[in-house]
Amino acid sequence: MPWRRFRKKVERPIDVSKSIEESLEDAADGESEEDAIELAELDDATIAEAATGVPDEDRAPTELGDKLRGVLDEAAQRGGLPHSAPRGIAVDRRPGAARSEDPHAARYPESDVDLAVEAARGLRLKNPVMTASGTFGQGVEYAELIDVSRLGAIVNKGTTPAARPGNPQYRIAETPSGILNSIGLENPGAAEVARKYGKAWAELGVAVIVNVAGYSVEDYVYVVHEMTGTPGVVAYEINVSCPNVKGGMLFGCDPDLAAEVTRAVKAETDLPVIVKLTPNAPDVVAVARACEEAGADALTAINTVLGMRIDTRRRRPILGTGSGGLSGPAIRPIAVHITYQVAQAVAIPIIGAGGVTNAQDALEFLMAGASSVQVGTATFADPLAPLKVIEGLAAYVKEQGLTSIRDVIGAALPVRED
Ligand SMILES: Cc1cc2nc3c(=O)[nH]c(=O)nc-3n(C[C@H](O)[C@H](O)[C@H](O)COP(=O)(O)O)c2cc1C
Repeated sequence: MPWRRFRKKVERPIDVSKSIEESLEDAADGESEEDAIELAELDDATIAEAATGVPDEDRAPTELGDKLRGVLDEAAQRGGLPHSAPRGIAVDRRPGAARSEDPHAARYPESDVDLAVEAARGLRLKNPVMTASGTFGQGVEYAELIDVSRLGAIVNKGTTPAARPGNPQYRIAETPSGILNSIGLENPGAAEVARKYGKAWAELGVAVIVNVAGYSVEDYVYVVHEMTGTPGVVAYEINVSCPNVKGGMLFGCDPDLAAEVTRAVKAETDLPVIVKLTPNAPDVVAVARACEEAGADALTAINTVLGMRIDTRRRRPILGTGSGGLSGPAIRPIAVHITYQVAQAVAIPIIGAGGVTNAQDALEFLMAGASSVQVGTATFADPLAPLKVIEGLAAYVKEQGLTSIRDVIGAALPVRED
């Protein structure tokens, strides 16, 4: 399925009298062909589809969608799109397919640079760049636009035991240097995710980390159980930013609750288990330590930061749920700070997330002690952002004369006495 995203560097104030789709269509009216091509690359899904990866089958194709598809096809005929395999050439991306047979492998700037990292205990990735959960659909949709096999890994949309319709509208609001979202874990449920995407994941030749969400310890275990044996899946990322139905507190805000989920999921699977920390915890370092003691193989730092915007005309919060999760460059200093603190408290790998838009941002996380990063909100403005981060890191390793990207991990941490 193709996609529509926010366009780069365009201020798009929220007009609450219209749906986001209508506003985007209005904004696209009268665009020059060049702009249309850019939009076409970003394509024509709704924001909810883009965030969940689940096509809205009742949605009729839009006029804009048809127009953009036409322009996209024309552009492809004129010589293909950057960063993607040219159309009409089949590239074997199955795991195990010899990379030397890939006619495009050699042209990628990272091909001859050692970017391999240990993203979690037992999980070595060819490079440290993943996509963040909820910002890259189920990954397969992007294969039409970019060569996703270049990514270190993709993290799928939060997966719950049963299908969830998500939260009421509005679910996205722009903020200075970021966005607020309250998508509400819209997804088709674990069994359907495994059935629908497993085969495609394996064919893409990219490592898939399943993001697991739930409202009880049993929920998390159930999702992992349902996903067991799904082709392409290499690890689980546990989203503990969910309220526990028993007490209402977020699993990730309480060290004991977070440890309980970690232990239960570890007992269910032999794959690496990554716990995604919430910056909304009163003591995130205590949660990190508890998860490590409970057997976590890595930690992701961080999930979104609680925030709110008010529609001053309606005198109500803009988001249907009132508050939502803030992401994008606005939260990067918070995320780097937490990474730096957690890196000094645990020995397991850390995956940095929060506002990574380019290689310099990624380097901040790596130097703060993360061994890999996730790119999330940045892909809404530029679907090529994760690939540009990989290319930028490769260029950095070359320019600095490093042996590998691993040389910079933790470089900014205080020197330990022991
Ligand atoms: C629209 C949207 C949906 C998200 N959905 C999920 C999710 O389902 N599970 C999860 O663990 N994190 C989710 N996140 C959080 C991101 O994975 C990431 O941790 C956060 O956005 C910070 O990274 P960023 O600033 O690069 O986006 C979502 C973020 C956004 C913007």
